[in-house]
Amino acid sequence: MEKRKLVELLEDMSMEEKIGQLLQLTGSYFMEDAVLTGPEAEIGVTDQEIACCGSVLSVHGAKELRKIQDRIMKSQPHHIPALFMLDVIHGFRTIFPVPIGQGCTFHPELVKEGASISAKETAVSGVHITFSPMSDLCRDARWGRVMEGTGEDKYLNGVYTKAMVEGYQGKDVKAPYKVGACVKHFAAYGLPEGGREYNTVEVSNRTLFEDYLPAYKEGVKAGAVSVMTSFNTLDRIPSTANRRLMRDVLRDNMGFDGVLISDYGAVMELVNHGIAEDGKEAAKLAINAGVDIEMMSRSYVANLKELIVSGEVEQSVLNEAVMRVLTLKNQLGLFEHPYKDASEEGEQAYILCKEHREAARKCAEESLVLLENDGILPLKKQGQHIAFIGPYVDNKELYGAWALMADGKDAKALSEIVPLLYPNNGYWFEHACNIVPKDSLLSGLASTLETKYTEEEEARAMERAVETAAAADIVVLMMGEHRLQTGEAAAVGDITLPKKQLELLERIAKVNENIVTVLFNGRPLDIREVKEKSSAVLEAWFPGTEGAYAVADTLFGTSNPSGRLSMSFPYCVGQVPVHYDEFATGRPKETEEVENKFCSRYEDIPNAPLYPFGYGLSYADFTYEYRRISKEQLKISKQDDFIEASVTVTNHSDVVGMEVVQLYIQDVKGSVVRPVKELKGFQKICLEPQESKTVTFCVTEEMLRFYDINMEYKSEPGEFRIYIGHDSTQSNGLAFHLTK
Ligand code: GLC
Repeated sequence: MEKRKLVELLEDMSMEEKIGQLLQLTGSYFMEDAVLTGPEAEIGVTDQEIACCGSVLSVHGAKELRKIQDRIMKSQPHHIPALFMLDVIHGFRTIFPVPIGQGCTFHPELVKEGASISAKETAVSGVHITFSPMSDLCRDARWGRVMEGTGEDKYLNGVYTKAMVEGYQGKDVKAPYKVGACVKHFAAYGLPEGGREYNTVEVSNRTLFEDYLPAYKEGVKAGAVSVMTSFNTLDRIPSTANRRLMRDVLRDNMGFDGVLISDYGAVMELVNHGIAEDGKEAAKLAINAGVDIEMMSRSYVANLKELIVSGEVEQSVLNEAVMRVLTLKNQLGLFEHPYKDASEEGEQAYILCKEHREAARKCAEESLVLLENDGILPLKKQGQHIAFIGPYVDNKELYGAWALMADGKDAKALSEIVPLLYPNNGYWFEHACNIVPKDSLLSGLASTLETKYTEEEEARAMERAVETAAAADIVVLMMGEHRLQTGEAAAVGDITLPKKQLELLERIAKVNENIVTVLFNGRPLDIREVKEKSSAVLEAWFPGTEGAYAVADTLFGTSNPSGRLSMSFPYCVGQVPVHYDEFATGRPKETEEVENKFCSRYEDIPNAPLYPFGYGLSYADFTYEYRRISKEQLKISKQDDFIEASVTVTNHSDVVGMEVVQLYIQDVKGSVVRPVKELKGFQKICLEPQESKTVTFCVTEEMLRFYDINMEYKSEPGEFRIYIGHDSTQSNGLAFHLTK
């Protein structure tokens, strides 16, 4: 529809119709068994409000959504089509690894392909917008939603946010099989005090701009059609009422002109926050802050008309919000094609198709991170007696949180596929214990807690497992978190494995020293005991529909692990938050030896995490040599000046392997303190046995910019050091100077 037609439409709409466009209701108002992703389903809307709402969330299914669209358009005086939105966070029905695992691939093209595949399955199911990517920077493993982000690094998060938006939207969101992205949660939702869900965020303005906003900005630059507000406060102002954050920063500073949607019930929650007296004041604060769509609360439909008639809210503010919603519908082509790609034939043809499964399997393979290996891996493919033990050996649900459409019947368990893929060994499979105790109070989105054993059954199963372990050549322990222990509203104070699983590890370690431990989890855990008792540790995160194949092929060497940690594993929860790009402090701790008490250290634990950002092992053996830079001076005044930083990487093994060559830069002195190093680039390369490759990075002045003492984003002359290596612990940087 032409822009002028949209303007005419807006002018012809009644006040009630306009306000209706700003209401988003959950699917349970329109269809049976719609998943609920928030605290309540009933918010007291009238039948008329339901009939004329502008958008619906948590619905899917071509046939259903065509019917709902017909019903809504018929009720609308101007027959305006509705928007359908859904949380497709790491796959629709073909489930990809949880985003923290995707972050470990260091392969943005793979992640972009996954987003494109997810968009296709989502679009044929009738959905127009996905509430993804989640771009919240998070460095706190206690927070349940670290699984939903791509790690602790602002640069890496920005790379992935861009890749996902491009994957979902393509070049034109109106195109077939594309859906709109929704960058969330604006802003800094990943920094709740204590790692506790929905808790207060306290961050300096400089750190907000330097570390927490860049990834969202990459999403806006990539053309994301929508942004979602975060539940938290910033500067003691809830984001959903934060005019400075939404109008000055998001719209004016970042140039976002799309639709801003509240998170679930977040407008009415302004009352709980204590900055709104009632729904009327909440509506006034949110609409004036620039929030266009109110998700699952009715302060707009109940109060906006009165607020406008009384002059407390300008008519223009309402018109601006409604025009953005109509413009988004127009961008999607809904006025001409209200069903867009909704197609039962498309669902049959594309959902879980072979190509999609293959892409999910490749992404899962590259998301796995080998943390320890004394040579026990890869497993021999014949002549071994191997006991697979633990609650994940026969578990098909390797999806993790936010896999709303996933279905266990789509996947295979390790116990099904290992004998098929690698038939020339002897295998035992023992579930051994529940993931979590039967009486755990775990609840979650679209899931119910299922546990296999009663307490007595579990005791017998553990006994049997230990006996089996004693008789085996090798034990492969498959343990981890329950998927309901991660995701939204799943913050924890204890990041160790469930106690029964640690007991299993303890008892098996007494009868067999050849232990390979595979972990399925949605956050970095305190795995000191696992590290101590295992000959190898493979971090599998929640690898998705094809995850069992990826794990099996990695264990037996068909696939060589190439994942690198996108988030540090803390030594213990007392170290949290821990991240590589820390500041030196005035009393830096130079070595682990206690030479000087009076330095930045702990009495009882090391400063270093158990496993650092960027770390991961391979079955290949890579060396880095001939680190060099093309010159030692970079001139700000010289347009397009750059330094080439190179390294030669060699694969000394007899297996093909992929290595993630990482470039870090340190700004030795600034007008404000600067991190000890920052990731500025990476290249994932594949090396044949005995092959060498020279990897070159271009270092430019633009890469050296930061928010200086005056909050101006610019570089400052001085000394810099370049570190190129296989993780964030590199030292002996190559020095260069930036000059005017
Ligand atoms: C939830 C989440 C948000 C999600 C929304 C809709 O509360 O915070 O990430 O997209 O509601 O399901």
